[in-house]
Amino acid sequence: MVGGVMATPKYQRLPQDPPDLHPLPSTPHTPPHHSPPGQLSSHCPKLSRYKMVAAMFVVVVTMVVVAVTCLQWRHPYLLQHSAPLSPPSLRPEGDTGRKCNGMAHLRYSHTKRQLPQCLIIGARKAGTRALLYFLNRHSQIQTAGREIHFFDKNFHLGLDWYRRQMPFSFKDQVTMEKTPAYFVEAEVPKRVHSMNHSMKLLLILRDPIDRTMSDYLQIMDNKVKRHKPQVAFEKLVLDQETYEINRSYSAIRRSIYVRHLQRWLEFFPLSQIHLVDGENLVAHPWQELAKVESFLGLEHQITRDHFTFNTTRGFYCFRTADVDIDSCLSKDKGRSHPSIDPYVLKKLIEFFTPFNHKLFNLIGRRFHWQHWT
Ligand code: A3P
Repeated sequence: MVGGVMATPKYQRLPQDPPDLHPLPSTPHTPPHHSPPGQLSSHCPKLSRYKMVAAMFVVVVTMVVVAVTCLQWRHPYLLQHSAPLSPPSLRPEGDTGRKCNGMAHLRYSHTKRQLPQCLIIGARKAGTRALLYFLNRHSQIQTAGREIHFFDKNFHLGLDWYRRQMPFSFKDQVTMEKTPAYFVEAEVPKRVHSMNHSMKLLLILRDPIDRTMSDYLQIMDNKVKRHKPQVAFEKLVLDQETYEINRSYSAIRRSIYVRHLQRWLEFFPLSQIHLVDGENLVAHPWQELAKVESFLGLEHQITRDHFTFNTTRGFYCFRTADVDIDSCLSKDKGRSHPSIDPYVLKKLIEFFTPFNHKLFNLIGRRFHWQHWT
């Protein structure tokens, strides 16, 4: 009571009010206060401040969602396939953990395209595809899917082009490419050396007469596909005037291994060229692959247990989780070879024997080839 007048409190707590309810503003009729633009009003009630914070939160979340959506649209694989840097392990059935087998366009985070540190240089028809195919199962190896022909046909396109043909790989993985033409094309060793003098080279060899036949069958297959007439093996490998071996026939030339190897040895020491036994890759692939793993300084992952002999194909294939579907090479690998006319075979053995001797002396090692005297 002030001066007989009952002082009206600015706010009277009603019995139903919750105890911590804030009092209403003292001057409900005061005109609204305008703060300068860009400055939050200090007179805002607390409830409105909460609303503003909530609104800002919604705006920020919306902006993040929009940004992520845009990024995914522009780089669809960048965010989807991020894999943890797990310890490498071979997983023969399908995906090998740190690989996108058959999906070279997919990209894990922490990967980039790298120039190869290892090349399968040949020899054509000696098992180069099988070698690459099996090695690609190793978690520390990434392989280019097709033959790039950089050092023979596409050299003018430059190193950036070459790098773009490579698969995405982790820093600790070996990038590998195979182009069997590299072994026989004269200018290739020098070009490889100029790009990387410590390049590791894989060369797979098989009995030169079997390789010649395999090469001939491949050439004839291509002719059939192009509706061109076929020519008999004997007619091509023998000079039709002298009845001696026709050295200018490409399938013969490619089988004179020592000549091509000598060219490579002008630029690379033998220790940098690992020779794979083509016959043993067919008979015991895990043995040859273990030697390649050692040569490349990789851990031994590929074992006998990863292979199963496919009786229909007559070759070892990779074992898969589904026992009915082995992971085999395509049907154009492993054609059956016709028998060679005895006279031509004798000529071929006489022709290749001195070259084989020279080769074995050069490499300090013998291969157990069936056509060998
Ligand atoms: P053939 O078709 O003459 O039997 P490349 O891949 O260099 O063209 O070599 C083809 C050769 O790879 C085939 O020659 C075949 O002998 C050999 N090869 C080795 N291992 C193989 C496998 N597991 N499956 C199929 N072919 C294989």
